[in-house]
Amino acid sequence: MKDVRVGICGLGTVGGGTFSVLSRNASLIAGRAGCSIRIGRVASRRQNESIELGDIPFSQDIFDVVNDPDIDIVVELIGGYDVARELVMAAIANGKHVVTANKALIAVHGNEIFEAAEAKGVIVAFEAGVAGGIPVIKALREGLVANRIDWLAGIINGTGNFILTEMRAGREFADVLKEAQALGYAEADPTFDVEGIDAAHKLTILASTGFGVPLQFERAYTEGISKVTPYDIEHAELLGYRIKHLGIARRREDGIELRVHPTLVPKDLLIAQVDGVLNAVLVDGDAVGQTMYYGAGAGAEATASAVIADVVDVARTVSHGSAQKVPYLGFEPGAMEELPV
Ligand code: HSE
Repeated sequence: MKDVRVGICGLGTVGGGTFSVLSRNASLIAGRAGCSIRIGRVASRRQNESIELGDIPFSQDIFDVVNDPDIDIVVELIGGYDVARELVMAAIANGKHVVTANKALIAVHGNEIFEAAEAKGVIVAFEAGVAGGIPVIKALREGLVANRIDWLAGIINGTGNFILTEMRAGREFADVLKEAQALGYAEADPTFDVEGIDAAHKLTILASTGFGVPLQFERAYTEGISKVTPYDIEHAELLGYRIKHLGIARRREDGIELRVHPTLVPKDLLIAQVDGVLNAVLVDGDAVGQTMYYGAGAGAEATASAVIADVVDVARTVSHGSAQKVPYLGFEPGAMEELPV
């Protein structure tokens, strides 16, 4: 079985979760990937005390990962715009595939990054950048590929949804935000969550994937939840609505409309009932009709689940030349003995 080597840059919430899940489920993931996926190097400005690295090489310079000739896939989990861009561009220049959870990077620098990746013949995958653990990018690229998408809409910031949910129960905005930060849901700069910037990054990526248009973050109308008051929430409820922070992309005659803002949603709609850190994305396709994708929108292992899905896709391509050549769902060790056939 071929070894594919992964280098992890960043050991924060998502980096730590990715390390843990890749280590814990190594044999299961190898069976499914059709190759073994080894963590060949880890780099992070700060050590993560909860991670036991064993004999895996560790350094504080993330560029060590990009310059390591044995690394096939660079997993960028440092976040932010500038250093992350430099890191990803350097990885591509060195012929490495990239997996990232960095929605800000993709929304703002994605066009340049994808162009460089195409010229170099490497893959840049970003499932974990949108809606945490929900495989909505794969749904758009694969399951819904036959459809003309007319609109999509969703709750795509877990922190914001958590705050609105808890405010409905009478808690204070600032107090809930602090809890979201402690739980590792919020961005390093939480104004990205509460002012709608994070949701606008994700909507930009969803729209580009769903409608096949270039990434145009600067064109999204962006409004957050920081001005929503307990009075608004209470009166919306009395009128039969729930206030949800939605990202909405709609096909219009003159282009694709992108907007994120607090929205009055009738309480009996499924999406109105998506509470806490959960996300949900509704997609309207001309052939399939409406589909909805729902699950954890943030958090260490939920986001790691999406990071590793991309790592496996890329690893299949590295080891077999195409992700599709690997039979889906290899059996877990022992499964044949345990399951009746
Ligand atoms: N801060 C983000 C959120 C993390 O709350 O949704 C996941 O992208």
